[in-house]
Amino acid sequence: MRWCHWVNFPILTIMIWSGMLIYWANDEYKITIFGHTFFRFFPDWFYNTLKIPHRLSEGMAFHFLFMWFFTLNGILYILYTTISGEWRELVPKKNSFKEAWLVLLHDLHIRKTAPPQNKYNAAQRIAYTAIIIMGIGSVITGLAIYKPVQFYYLTWLSGGYHFARILHFALTLGYVFFFVIHIVQVILAGWGNFSSVISGFEVVNETPEPIIQTTTEDEKAE
Ligand code: HEM
Repeated sequence: MRWCHWVNFPILTIMIWSGMLIYWANDEYKITIFGHTFFRFFPDWFYNTLKIPHRLSEGMAFHFLFMWFFTLNGILYILYTTISGEWRELVPKKNSFKEAWLVLLHDLHIRKTAPPQNKYNAAQRIAYTAIIIMGIGSVITGLAIYKPVQFYYLTWLSGGYHFARILHFALTLGYVFFFVIHIVQVILAGWGNFSSVISGFEVVNETPEPIIQTTTEDEKAE
């Protein structure tokens, strides 16, 4: 699971970055309310700072190569978690949705006591399952806009070509949002937790047993 997680990190970064190179060529999404545009994805300074303009073909080349690795790594992860039974630790339980609020309140320091924490708490179960569903969503909507004729059933499933493209884009925003929260949580969880996600074990500093020196009457006499 750790391998899949760390392999996914550069792949997802490349998918988001190459997706941006593609999006620039036809950046039509904006937030408009009553005819007033509040936000355009993305302002010129954003494109120019990241040197995005005029790199459509480069973006497509990277996107359509790394989509294979993204998909294969995802399939491997799902197979592993299913076969090993690890999925039991990951999928939300009946009370996870109620408990996730308590986790949030605890993280915001509003509630003192932490809700029950096994390997993953309720909020983690929801987030880590959602991110897998989002990954499947990216593959389905990606294929739907990649070959809308050959994969017409995926395009239909995604609500048509245009809606599939919007979903594909929205999922990318979702990854960025997830990433920000994920990083904050990793920092809050501390170094020990982070290093254990790399090594597979956590070093726990146990307080040493106090050394009690006792002197017998004979030793005193000596
Ligand atoms: C996590 C993985 C992925 C991310 C973050 C991602 C992100 C993006 C983004 C941001 C765009 C630009 C959106 C737009 O122009 O509307 C894009 C375009 C595209 N993506 Fe992905 N993508 C991912 C996976 C995939 C996969 C697996 C495929 C499968 C073929 C795919 C196929 C495409 C295609 C065909 C386009 C061009 C859309 C167009 O012509 O406008 N993507 N992707």
